[in-house]
Amino acid sequence: MAHIKLLIWACCLALSTSFAYGLGVNWGTQAAQTLPPSTIVQMLKDNKIDKVKLFDSDHWTVKYFAGTGIEVMLGLPNNQLEKFANDYDFAKEWVKNNVSAHLYNGGVDIKFVAVGNEPFLKAYNGSFLKTTFPALQNVQKALNSAGLGDKIKATIPQNADVYESGNSGPSQGDFRSDIRDLMQKICRFFKDNNAPFLVNIYPFLSLHENKHFPLEFAFFDGQTKAVRDNGISYTNMFDANLDTLVVSLKKASCSGVKIIVGEIGWPTDGDLYGNVTLAKRFYSGFFKKMATKKGTPLYPGFIEYYLFSLTDENQKSILPGSFERHWGIFRYDGKPKFPMDITGQGHETMPIGAKNVKYLENKWCVLNKYAEDIGKLPSSVQYACSRSDCTAVDYGGSCNKLDGDGNVSYAFNMYFQMNGQDVESCVFDGLAKIVEKNASVDSCLFPIGLESVGVRIGVDAILNILVGFFLFLTLL
Ligand SMILES: *[C@@H]1O[C@H](CO)[C@@H](O)[C@H](O)[C@H]1NC(C)=O
Ligand SMILES: *[C@@H]1O[C@H](CO)[C@@H](O)[C@H](O)[C@H]1NC(C)=O
Ligand SMILES: *[C@@H]1O[C@H](CO)[C@@H](O)[C@H](O)[C@H]1NC(C)=O
Ligand SMILES: *[C@@H]1O[C@H](CO)[C@@H](O)[C@H](O)[C@H]1NC(C)=O
Ligand SMILES: *[C@@H]1O[C@H](CO)[C@@H](O)[C@H](O)[C@H]1NC(C)=O
Repeated sequence: MAHIKLLIWACCLALSTSFAYGLGVNWGTQAAQTLPPSTIVQMLKDNKIDKVKLFDSDHWTVKYFAGTGIEVMLGLPNNQLEKFANDYDFAKEWVKNNVSAHLYNGGVDIKFVAVGNEPFLKAYNGSFLKTTFPALQNVQKALNSAGLGDKIKATIPQNADVYESGNSGPSQGDFRSDIRDLMQKICRFFKDNNAPFLVNIYPFLSLHENKHFPLEFAFFDGQTKAVRDNGISYTNMFDANLDTLVVSLKKASCSGVKIIVGEIGWPTDGDLYGNVTLAKRFYSGFFKKMATKKGTPLYPGFIEYYLFSLTDENQKSILPGSFERHWGIFRYDGKPKFPMDITGQGHETMPIGAKNVKYLENKWCVLNKYAEDIGKLPSSVQYACSRSDCTAVDYGGSCNKLDGDGNVSYAFNMYFQMNGQDVESCVFDGLAKIVEKNASVDSCLFPIGLESVGVRIGVDAILNILVGFFLFLTLL
């Protein structure tokens, strides 16, 4: 009998470890063409990723997660914070239409609402300082009043720049002085509501921003001399950074608030340090760390993580750098970039990519070498790049070795593909032409665009058009 019991336990332990790793992923849609949500669901399931963090609450997208077992974090964009802050009824209405509506039996497993996205970034010049906390309060209040407060928590994804430790170690951490009072109020609100503190931590950015940052310290493989702080040895930047938050929370009397890592990852292009080799190394060490279920020296328990990101997004702002469009563990078309093992056992295999991807035709737009009037070349390239994505051509990028003509063709092709291969987008005063021969050069991919899934013009819009048409007929 005891043996049978043992067997049962063994079986189910094995099962549970092969299903839930508690791993989440961010899915952003700032791309000219995005994969359909049904494909995203397939990719998450095939790769055993069981949580998704969204940047909006688009009804059409969210409903695809119903009955999938995938836990969903909805997002409210920064430009909505003012509305949510000033209008509680609006928050209530939003909860009704965009949260409660998904919670029928077999519906969507919504657990968090992310209010804003890194709203206190220094780059925003304080634009969202007044609205973020009231918006958070209104959303949680509306969730509570809908009877969902126990199950669904409102939180704020913060950039790690909301806290600092000067030139000292984590033990000297505190919230940034300009927002210290506000952060204290917010973390106490989390404490009172049993909501988590969401933080985005990027060792890559430390490397990108500071030439003197020790490369090895960005990874988790311990190939570095430990840095000691207050009796604790740190071998990686992530642990030190998260512990700075732990100390900051403690100083704000917010100890005990759960910490979730809302974004963590490594880009693969558009930067000297953004390449597949380093990304693979980062994730490999990260998954091994995650498998130990041990957090950091000052936060020793299990930590939930959301990778950043699922797919590349070719329309993200590149203000921070060209790497911004290359954070995906999958390419724009859902093809995996490098082997990994999310169980942390080190058996790295290629993740399972998107299935049944619908590409546009095998056509490329390139420089017409016989064009006569080449005076407009520079301005044409600039135009094409500013309205598409030439980040792979930049210093350190996968297409940086192209020759002058190659640079032009790359720009023309990206513009053409991101405009759905519209023939009008491959003219440039006769400087460009469409070809059917693959224009890729060595390891520099000239991609083919995806068929648009018509996300925003869904069935509703078509119905409206039809209804309008019939009204028009009856009027006749
Ligand atoms: C919320 O739901 C309503 C009703 O379905 C919809 O019209 C609205 O666009 C949704 N809001 C967002 C942000 O998706
Ligand atoms: C912030 O201020 C700087 C300098 O005044 C300005 O260049 C930038 O556009 C501002 N950013 C935002 C988001 O307002
Ligand atoms: C990746 O980046 C590192 C740091 O810049 C560099 O040493 C390495 O050669 C690069 N690897 C590849 C394959 O580009
Ligand atoms: C191609 O463009 C990139 C990015 O602007 C530049 O660094 C490189 O020097 C260009 N190559 C040639 C041959 O003009
Ligand atoms: C074009 O060639 C590149 C590099 O050889 C390859 O990776 C890509 O799949 C090809 N594209 C198509 C549509 O065949």
